[in-house]
Amino acid sequence: MAYLKILTDRDPVLRKKCREVDSITSRTLTLLDDMLETMRRANGVGLAGPQVGVLRRIVVIECEPGEVYELINPTIIQKEGVQTGREGCLSIPGRVGIVTRPEKVTVEATDRNGVRRTITGTGLLARALCHEIDHLDGKLYTDIAERMLTDEEIEKGDD
Ligand code: NI
Repeated sequence: MAYLKILTDRDPVLRKKCREVDSITSRTLTLLDDMLETMRRANGVGLAGPQVGVLRRIVVIECEPGEVYELINPTIIQKEGVQTGREGCLSIPGRVGIVTRPEKVTVEATDRNGVRRTITGTGLLARALCHEIDHLDGKLYTDIAERMLTDEEIEKGDD
């Protein structure tokens, strides 16, 4: 396994729209493994292809330790409710914003075995699913944040 370089928000690659993964190859599986390790080392809960310079529709998420979602060509098929809270991004280090997202989302995605599956997430998982899928279309949370927190607010840990 290899750690990948995480691109930061000045990089124009983060603003590109990703193409679908046409076929799952050994390279795809290695990429998923490397993305998970890279995300864990950076203490993140989600990572999308463009963040490591890969313009393909591929995402890893781990909000609860050991509960890993590997999403290939994910699509949000249902949204419900709203939640407003803190959000950050490994590509925007040291910053936190207040972002409104659906409270519950259902996503359809292909897993590493090529099986199309449905995942329903609430709370943090719903937030992560929306955030990471946005990355695949070149969108960053700072585009929709109600406001960005000051360094003091970030340290204090409340909104
Ligand atoms: Ni992000």
